[in-house]
Amino acid sequence: TRELPQVDDEYLILGSGIAGLYTALAASAAGGSVTVITKLDMMDTGTEKAQGGIAAALGDSDSPALHREDTLVAGAGLCDTEAVAALVSEGPDRVRELIEMGAHFDSDSHGLCLTREGAHSKRRILHASGDATGAEIQRVLTLQVRANDKIRVLENHYVADLLVNENTCYGVLALDRTSGTFKVFRARVVILATGGLGRLYEHNTNPEVATGDGIGIAFRAGAEVMDMEFIQFHPTVLYLPGAPRFLISEAVRGEGAYLRNSQGHRFMPDYHDLAELAPRDVVVRAILKEMAATGLNQVYLDVTHLDPEVIRARFPNITRTCAQYNLDITVDRIPISPAAHYMMGGVKTNLVGETSIRGLYACGECSCPGVHGANRLASNSLLDGLVFGGRIVNETRKFLKDYRPRRLEFGCDWLLKQDKIDYAALRRELQVLMGQKVGPVRSNRGLMEALEFFDYWSRLQRHSEETAEGMEVKNMLQVGELVAEAALARRESRGGHYRVDYPECNQRWQKHIIFRR
Ligand code: SIN
Repeated sequence: TRELPQVDDEYLILGSGIAGLYTALAASAAGGSVTVITKLDMMDTGTEKAQGGIAAALGDSDSPALHREDTLVAGAGLCDTEAVAALVSEGPDRVRELIEMGAHFDSDSHGLCLTREGAHSKRRILHASGDATGAEIQRVLTLQVRANDKIRVLENHYVADLLVNENTCYGVLALDRTSGTFKVFRARVVILATGGLGRLYEHNTNPEVATGDGIGIAFRAGAEVMDMEFIQFHPTVLYLPGAPRFLISEAVRGEGAYLRNSQGHRFMPDYHDLAELAPRDVVVRAILKEMAATGLNQVYLDVTHLDPEVIRARFPNITRTCAQYNLDITVDRIPISPAAHYMMGGVKTNLVGETSIRGLYACGECSCPGVHGANRLASNSLLDGLVFGGRIVNETRKFLKDYRPRRLEFGCDWLLKQDKIDYAALRRELQVLMGQKVGPVRSNRGLMEALEFFDYWSRLQRHSEETAEGMEVKNMLQVGELVAEAALARRESRGGHYRVDYPECNQRWQKHIIFRR
């Protein structure tokens, strides 16, 4: 047994997107010592890639009550109403805090510029540099955290497991990928802010790090996970063979873009009264239907009828990225198809971010306080990270004065063993399978096939090797299985979950699926 290096803190935060960094700053302001562990670079986050914006009821004709109403409608009967009330009423103050920290949101002589996205009844989306809102938020939070000498940030650290005893979490075991050594991190409050799981799918909008690790390690440690079947697919993601998938923000449709099939027909009015601004799941299924009818892998987003100057000024990032592939979006239609985007479910928490394991908290995309229900309203995700991160610190600051860390006797012989598995090939197979069988359109047969795959691979021993790549693929298998299992169990269609064999929403299923190991 080898003795491992140990680090002690009051707060240990896993992840460096909006949820992780905002929570780190709040925890430090509350007087706690904080370590943030992140898998790759601090800037490799879903937040950094977010385009459209952050929703908050700040407009003159808007109110938290209207924002609440839109969130509940999008959530298709499964939102926790108290969690939504917290989100919409505390959201505006959290956004003002970001502005005080130095975030520059687009404004004009009348004040903040607010745009509209699908299923919002008001213009309430703040944006930055047109379509690079997340990058601005990530920039500001990263600067603040780097300037704070009470926050230690460790990049390139991969968390192998949570350390849990008698249903109490007291830290994590992590691999320092740079030195190749394992370390023990102990803390009074361990916070999962590890983001989503889009990388379980071949086609996705997420950063490389989004492999569902937080959900995987929490479930393995005995935490409850909820709503795992609800995955949001984004309708409009650039589809050019050979080019990386790149999000074309919903705000483009908010500003008047049309969706056309390969015959040039604007099809969304045939499917929904709100046309291009219908809920995302409706738009995704309409696109898939059009693709099937035309036998092509894409449809087109069209802004050529809009003022080119306005488009270039409002969407500089999208304009520039498309231009790299010789697409002038003011003249050419943009080929797009849907891709996995956001996980509504995750580690079940209460209204202050507490999971079913004492000492373990979760916020942001990996968590599930029930705020998004079966389908997230556009631009509520950045807000969710801020509001529930802040709530965790408000709740836990009272524990700080009596935290007395104790050194652990901790060894790990098992880390020395190796599996002979081609993890890169296994990951690819999993990603294709998830897209085909556990994607936007699901069936009993496809889900059973997916579960056979997961059953087979569950023979892999959890701790039988020491590469981050291997541990990551094992988390992906664990989380993929949870998604498939929940999707098989839910015999109806609702929000981000659609079954061809049960296409209707069924009142009897107005309930949550919760798994515990
Ligand atoms: C987008 O810009 O379309 C993404 C916004 C979101 O997912 O909330």
